[in-house]
Amino acid sequence: MSKTFILAGASSAIARETAGMLQASGHRIIGLSTKSNDSGYGDFHTIEKYDFGKFPAIEGAIDGLVYFPGTINLKPFARLTEREFITDFEINSLGAVAFVQAYLNNLKKSENGSIVFLSSVAVSTGLPFHASISMAKGAIEGLTKSLAAELAPSIRVNCVAPSLVNTPLGSRFLNSPEKLEQMEKRNPLRKVGEPKDVANAIVFLLLEDSSWVTGQVMAIDGGMNTLKNG
Ligand SMILES: NC(=O)c1ccc[n+]([C@@H]2O[C@H](COP(=O)([O-])OP(=O)(O)OC[C@H]3O[C@@H](n4cnc5c(N)ncnc54)[C@H](OP(=O)(O)O)[C@@H]3O)[C@@H](O)[C@H]2O)c1
Repeated sequence: MSKTFILAGASSAIARETAGMLQASGHRIIGLSTKSNDSGYGDFHTIEKYDFGKFPAIEGAIDGLVYFPGTINLKPFARLTEREFITDFEINSLGAVAFVQAYLNNLKKSENGSIVFLSSVAVSTGLPFHASISMAKGAIEGLTKSLAAELAPSIRVNCVAPSLVNTPLGSRFLNSPEKLEQMEKRNPLRKVGEPKDVANAIVFLLLEDSSWVTGQVMAIDGGMNTLKNG
C-alpha cells in the first residue's frame, strides 16, 4: 500500500537516496528544503528555515517524518562561540521539534506512523572538537526516547547515528586520498559510509518491517562506536 512521507532537509544526499528508494516502491514523498527543488521530488516546498511557524500546512494523513538538517561544525572547545552552540542546536535539534509539532496531527491520522531522526556517532563516542555537534545530536537522541515513550503505541520514534558518510557535509574530510584513507581506518569495517548505507536503515525504520522497533538509536557506523580491533 502506498504511504506518504515528509522529508525535511530534502537537499541532503541521504534524504535524496531515501526518497529514491521509497518512490521506487510506490510511496509518495513530500520534500521540504531551504533550497529550491533540484532533487527530483514530485511534491516539494521551499521553506525559509526549520523553525516554529515556518512549515507549510499539509492536508491528510502522513505515515512518516524524517528530519535531515544537520551541521558538522568541528572546532577546539575554547574557540566555539555561544552563537555556534545555539545555531547547531537550532538546526540539528530544535528544528526537529518544530517539524514534528507541525505535522503530529497528520501523523496521528496514519495507522502506522513513524518518525526518524538523524544523530551522529559523536554522541556515543567521544571525539575531539565535536563538543557542539555532540551536544546538539545528543539532544536528538534524548528526544527520540522521550517521544517514543509518549507517542507509543500509535507512533514509533527512532534515530540513526552514522559515522562519516560521503556527502557534501562530510566532503572536507574526504577531499584527498590521504584523508580518505585516514577516515576509512577509523572504523573496523574500514569504509566511509555511502548515503545508501544510511538510507537503507531509515527506510527500514519508516516501514512496517520495523513495526516492533521504537525508541532506538541505530548505529550505522562501520562498527565505530562498539568495536575496537586495531
Ligand atoms: N555526512 C556525514 O558524515 C554525517 C555523519 C553523521 C550524521 N550525519 C547527519 O546526516 C544528516 C544528513 O546530512 P548529509 O550527510 O546528507 O548532508 P548534506 O547532503 O550535506 O545535506 C545537508 C543537510 O543539512 C541541511 N543544512 C545544511 N546547512 C544548513 C543550515 N545552515 N541551516 C539549515 N539546514 C542546513 C540541509 O537542508 P536543506 O535541504 O534545507 O539545504 C540538508 O538537509 C544530517 O543531520 C547530518 O548531521 C551526517
